[in-house]
This record gives sequence, structure tokens and C-alpha cells, in this order.
Amino acid sequence: MAPLCRERNTSLATAQTGRNTARLDRGHDPPDPGRLPEDRPVTPTEIKTIRTGFALLAAHPDELAAEFYARLFALDPSLTHLFRADLKAQGRKLTAALALVVNSLDRLDGILGQIQMLGLRHRDYGVEPAHYAIVGAALIDTLEARLGPAFTDEARTAWATAYGILAEAMLTAPDMRDAA
Ligand code: HEM
Repeated sequence: MAPLCRERNTSLATAQTGRNTARLDRGHDPPDPGRLPEDRPVTPTEIKTIRTGFALLAAHPDELAAEFYARLFALDPSLTHLFRADLKAQGRKLTAALALVVNSLDRLDGILGQIQMLGLRHRDYGVEPAHYAIVGAALIDTLEARLGPAFTDEARTAWATAYGILAEAMLTAPDMRDAA
């Protein structure tokens, strides 16, 4: 598996398609999230690649979720204690969230508020910054296993970049409670 690596970077994460530019603004320096994908925009070609792959996977959301959680808990069994809800229901929420992001890759500004709220809820679930790289690795492994040869190197890079943007926005969501 290609490494999910990048340097700490405080530049803006941007998804661009032609004239449309979706931008995820960060209000402050992000915490070091550990190993995450390279910080750069998702290209229009990558958006197409991600959408094609996700359309295949979204037809079988329960299988996708089951494989994802099996891989996640194999990578880090200690994460099981964070999940209290029924994993099938949880998997459906995850797939729905991924679908929203995949459909919005060319206009991420429009869902930035939702992504940030998701990030803040994750802090309350006990999720730590380092967990994002583990979830990213489990996601990439799952996509590779389920898409087979369709999961090309280009597709891997596209997904890793998109996941990095999403994770970064979740991790750096401003929380008013921090200022109190
Ligand atoms: C791009 C990254 C992620 C996405 C899109 C995502 C999506 C979701 C969604 C949609 C939910 C349903 C509840 C809600 O909306 O608040 C959820 C819950 C949850 N997620 Fe994530 N998540 C991500 C990353 C992570 C990471 C890194 C962890 C760390 C292990 C994690 C652990 C959890 C836990 C523990 C819950 C609550 C489950 C429960 O109450 O039983 N998620 N996630």
C-alpha cells in the first residue's frame, strides 16, 4: 500500500473544477494529524475517478461498511471501544456521509459547516487526531479490496487526497468551547 504521508502544512485545502473553486478555510494552525495524505486540491479528473468508484461501492453499502470496520479493527483493535452503536447502522451513516462528500467534491464550501460539525462530534466521541490516519488506511485498504483492478494508483491518490481534505477540515473545526 502506498504510504499516506505528508508534511505539516498550513495552506488552504482546495478542490477545484474549472471555474468553480471550493475552498476549505482554516481559521488557525491545524494540530499535527500524524500520517495523512498530501495536502493539495482534488483535480477534476480525480473527482471523476472517485465518483465512478464510489458508484460501484455504494450499491452494496452494508458490505462496504462491514469490510471497512473489519479492516479498521484489525489495524487497531483498541478502536472498538469507541463504537457503541450497531455497526450496520453506523456503516450506513458513514456511507451516507461519504456520498455527501463525494457528491460535493467540486463545491466543498457548501458543506464545510456540516463537515466541521461532524469533526466536533467526533471529538466528543473520543476520536483523537492520530485516529484519522488509521481510518484513512482502513478506508484505502477497503477500497482496494472491493474495487480490485479498478482501484488504480490514480484512484488511490485521488481518494487519499480527498480523505486528507475531509480529515483536515474535521480536525481543525473551530470549537467555541476551546475559547471559554
Ligand atoms: C472522514 C472521516 C470520517 C467520516 C466521514 C465519519 C463519519 C461518521 C458519521 C456520519 C458518523 C455518524 C454520527 C454523526 O454523524 O455524528 C460517525 C460516527 C462515529 N465515528 Fe466517524 N467519521 C470519520 C472519521 C472517524 C475517525 C477517524 C474515527 C476514529 C476511530 C471515527 C469514529 C467514529 C465513532 C466512534 C462514531 C460514533 C459511533 C457510535 O456512537 O457508536 N470516525 N462517523
